[in-house]
Amino acid sequence: MKQFLDLSDLSDERLEAVLRRAKQLEANPLSSALRGKIVALLFLNPSLRTLASMEAGVKQLGGDTFVITPGQSSWALETRDGAVMDGDAVEHVREAIPVLAEYADALGVRCFAKGKDLAEDLADGVIRRMAELCPKPFVNLESAAAHPCQALADWKTLEDVGIPRRGGRFVLSWAYHPKPLALAVPAAALAMAARRGMDVTLLRPDGYALPGPLVERAARLAAESGGSIRQTADRREALEGAHVLYAKSWGAPDLYGRPAEEAERRRPLRDWCVAEDWFATARPDARFMHCLPVRRNVKVRDEVLDGPRSVVLREAGNRLHAQKALLLELLTEEGA
Ligand code: CP
Repeated sequence: MKQFLDLSDLSDERLEAVLRRAKQLEANPLSSALRGKIVALLFLNPSLRTLASMEAGVKQLGGDTFVITPGQSSWALETRDGAVMDGDAVEHVREAIPVLAEYADALGVRCFAKGKDLAEDLADGVIRRMAELCPKPFVNLESAAAHPCQALADWKTLEDVGIPRRGGRFVLSWAYHPKPLALAVPAAALAMAARRGMDVTLLRPDGYALPGPLVERAARLAAESGGSIRQTADRREALEGAHVLYAKSWGAPDLYGRPAEEAERRRPLRDWCVAEDWFATARPDARFMHCLPVRRNVKVRDEVLDGPRSVVLREAGNRLHAQKALLLELLTEEGA
């Protein structure tokens, strides 16, 4: 496995091995396993956790990194095939990716959704084409439709806090945000929980059902793992007996690429801000998860984020451990 574009790139056996390795690395973080290895990090969009955890992780394993931020530290990049490059972009990824691969042993790339065409973004073609251009191991650091490093860290977090696989009740809830956000994280969280064998409830207001292909994929994964998928707009019903509430916002799929109309639909939904009373019917020890960054008191109230349910910092910490395990899988003989 030399590409990690989606969690599905790891077989069940390799996924379990990566999770075990991540746990070991959490206990013993330093090694020289990546000595002499360089990981290039190409960020076409901002980041705090992904950038910092990749940099720290490679260095803790004895390797090194360099970071390219197109349009800031380097040339603005064009990603569209066949583009007439008479605008801001000076260099095409068709040259930039193989050039970076000349200098590095692996490449990590963040490239968000364009947010105009739903089918195009769901196909995740931009990151897939970039991976094809890369002759070295390639890691998706969040693309249009996937955030597999987040999914890996979230899986480990669920293990860490003792949430059962079979019979674990996982609620993925839409939350208010002032802008229509991309589908990468909800897609990743949904597929991750379904593959883990959990009973997954998609809680969302009318007009915010996730796109059919994402739900259908999750249903297939749930069928294989013994889990289940259902959808509702009723909070009490959704949270009944829940072990986990994972909050995320996303844009209305049928208004994709039409932000003004989407804003009108979203305007009356400000009460979709996770509060302690959402957990009234959940298990007393139910956990709150979010990938971060999060807008306090817009998506989730302080009382939840700062309270004992919240495992958001553990999720962020697990980005480091999980990505280090993944890099060993990609870059060392042991992971071959
Ligand atoms: N969760 C996550 O990917 O955070 P960043 O966007 O800060 O990297």
